[in-house]
Amino acid sequence: MPEDRVMPDRVMVESRVLTDDRDRVPSSDAGPAWWRSAAIYQIYVRSFADANGDGIGDLAGIRSRLPYLRDLGVDALWLTPWYVSPMADAGYDVADYRDIDPIFGDLAEAEALISDAHAYGLRLIVDIVPNHCSDRHPWFQAALASPTAPERGRFWFLPGRGDDGSLPPNDWRSYFGGPAWTRVDDGSWYLHMFAPEQPDLNWEDSAVRAEFEDILRFWLDRGVDGFRIDVAHGLMKAAGLPDVGADPDPADLPYQDRPEVHEIYRSWRRVLDSYDGDRVFVGEVWLPTPAQFIEYLRPDELHSAFNFEFLCAPWEPAALRAVIDDTVAKHAVVAAPPTWVLSNHDTIRHTTRYGRDDTAFDMGNKRHGAPSDLELGTRRARAAALLTLALPGGVYIYQGDELGLAEVEDIPVGLLQDPTWARSGGTDRGRDGCRVPLPWSGDAAPFGFSPGADARPWLPQPAEWKCATVEVQAADGESMLALYRRALRWRRALHAQCGPDLEWLELGAAALAFRRGGFACVVNFGPDSIRLPAPDEVVLASDVVTDGRLPADSAAWLRIPQ
Ligand code: NOJ
Ligand code: CA
Repeated sequence: MPEDRVMPDRVMVESRVLTDDRDRVPSSDAGPAWWRSAAIYQIYVRSFADANGDGIGDLAGIRSRLPYLRDLGVDALWLTPWYVSPMADAGYDVADYRDIDPIFGDLAEAEALISDAHAYGLRLIVDIVPNHCSDRHPWFQAALASPTAPERGRFWFLPGRGDDGSLPPNDWRSYFGGPAWTRVDDGSWYLHMFAPEQPDLNWEDSAVRAEFEDILRFWLDRGVDGFRIDVAHGLMKAAGLPDVGADPDPADLPYQDRPEVHEIYRSWRRVLDSYDGDRVFVGEVWLPTPAQFIEYLRPDELHSAFNFEFLCAPWEPAALRAVIDDTVAKHAVVAAPPTWVLSNHDTIRHTTRYGRDDTAFDMGNKRHGAPSDLELGTRRARAAALLTLALPGGVYIYQGDELGLAEVEDIPVGLLQDPTWARSGGTDRGRDGCRVPLPWSGDAAPFGFSPGADARPWLPQPAEWKCATVEVQAADGESMLALYRRALRWRRALHAQCGPDLEWLELGAAALAFRRGGFACVVNFGPDSIRLPAPDEVVLASDVVTDGRLPADSAAWLRIPQ
């Protein structure tokens, strides 16, 4: 190892101190609320850890891996839906919001998981899916059974257009492709903005509102620390369900961001605030303008929302700086903490994106299979980890980010499970490539994801993942996992000691550099190395710092004089 390689001795000392501090969930009066600077780890339940060997991740598997999550250094977990579901959209089609799907476990196992997570100092946030339920939900079954059933009013059933009603009631398209309407036996149509198995609920119906507030209470009573709200911007529809037309204004669509939606969250907030502890709402709010987005984060609505503008941005300093400035400014308006996210279960893994010619992400055009230089993508993903973990506010880490996993782009089409594939007529491979079960250990699939050598994970894992397992990376001080572990421990000290303000440092057009008090983060977007401002004070770097210079596509954290 070169002598001038920056070794993280000070980091390790710091991490022991910090680890000792977090044996329990801190009380709410111990300073700024936890969620304002939390590192939240997203568990995609089907793909995290399988305890019973059926090839599908489960709650017992998560419980067995809690020590890993504690040692990683995150503050909280967000679990994708665990409810009873026919799994037409991997659990985002809920048939019973008050019970656990038998594939994942049962209610007792969920309660044990909540309690174990707390014992490890980890908060736990669950997904709530209020825009739609499953077509197997008892309400929808009752609505199908009779046109006069009161349950019909809890969905959007309408007559069709045309002389014989054979045309859908309007021109809305499903987010998964195809029309947003399906016709039932009595000739009427129902709305589903996603798959036909996911009928949209009608939030103008008071029974729907009462039901969801009761569901919130059900889980709050069981100790969850909050909710990630699926399609938070979509619940209300414009009166009369008008056509969108040929050239719609993306900021004014009849099926999203209707002003009436905010009253739902104000009411939910009153429910949440009636419970003790700092419990939170995190919104999945995909909207085109900041003005629309921040309305969801007003003090009496949601606490936080994912920063998709950041996720979609290309790996370019000017673009990222603009997004960071915009993010900080818009959140300040409503005094909400900014958040940062690089990947999730709906996107292309950023190791792959950052190795492509075009490094931006576009939900409408994911460019599956576009050539990617994974070595470059990995270097950038390491730098991006240090960038996001240094920024003020909260951060979301998608499972496998900490292993640097790439998108799996060669899943045989016969094994694809995401409804996007079929709904797009085989033109969009969908989201399975970022949902492949995690590699934990060993030289061959199932890589410790399932017990035993014969288990078959629900999606095939690439053979090359033998080099990316937790086991391999835990033994390698230079791995992505080692970087995340050090950075997350440092981050605790950083957030404890530095305020939320960020001041840019000007280090040239190829760099992004900022300080927060006596701490600085420098990212070099290349192609040449750059001189660091305080090279002797580097505490962590994503690559070797030689002669005080930071190589291309890497990042460093430093102490600097105040
Ligand atoms: C957003 C979720 O993240 C996605 O996975 C799901 O398919 C849709 N909402 C519909 O629930
Ligand atoms: Ca299982």
